[in-house]
Amino acid sequence: MRQKYIVGNWKMNQSVSSLSSFFENLSIDETTCETWVSPQAMHIPRVLDAAQNIKKNFQVGAQNICEFDNGAYTGENSAESLKDLGATFTLIGHSERRHIFKEDHALLNRKIKHALKHDLTVIFCIGEQLEERKNGMTEAVLKYQLQEGLKDFPADKSLREKLIIAYEPVWAIGTGEVASPEQAQEAHHFIRKFITSDLDFQGDTVPLLYGGSVKPANAEGLLGQEDIDGALVGGASLKGEDFSALAQTASK
Ligand code: 13P
Repeated sequence: MRQKYIVGNWKMNQSVSSLSSFFENLSIDETTCETWVSPQAMHIPRVLDAAQNIKKNFQVGAQNICEFDNGAYTGENSAESLKDLGATFTLIGHSERRHIFKEDHALLNRKIKHALKHDLTVIFCIGEQLEERKNGMTEAVLKYQLQEGLKDFPADKSLREKLIIAYEPVWAIGTGEVASPEQAQEAHHFIRKFITSDLDFQGDTVPLLYGGSVKPANAEGLLGQEDIDGALVGGASLKGEDFSALAQTASK
């Protein structure tokens, strides 16, 4: 059986005080899934500090990286510095980066390779918009995003093991409208098949996460699907008690 994951994407949320209350209400020591969070970059050291008493592996990552090593790139965060702070992974290609910040396929592909160069695990996010689903284009969109984003991915097995894919249908992100377990399973199954047959990944070992309005109340149905190895969670990952409930569900 593949390992399960609960990954919190805190986006541009959490303050110093809400972080303390997250950890006060967190209870994950007995859970067996991977529990990861990606705070705003400047909070990484504080989160690692607060996580010191957690008795299990708890990883902290970034939400984005700059494609360049270092230099005159005002306002950007380098992979090297994120790694220095203790980040072990980064999201790449979140729909908010694609749509609000206009990050295109080629840029995401460069960022993925750059993250690997700095030994960061990559959670590559893909997903269709509502119109695309309505027009029956879901699989074509996912295929294109995978082909372009993972183009020329290094063949090295140890680097291929650093890839996680998150399927996040854009219409389900922050809307309260969650994909049904069947819709999510169908998309995950397609992704697993495609990366195996067309992109030469050992698809049955690549963790595939679902994201989009996951909450303790709907997690069980989603996480029970054969090809869903975990969840990438926005809103419901901000509170320690909800994050713990999700980790408990994923550990069943
Ligand atoms: P919500 O869980 O708030 O819908 O956000 C999902 C998401 O974007 C995770 O990356």
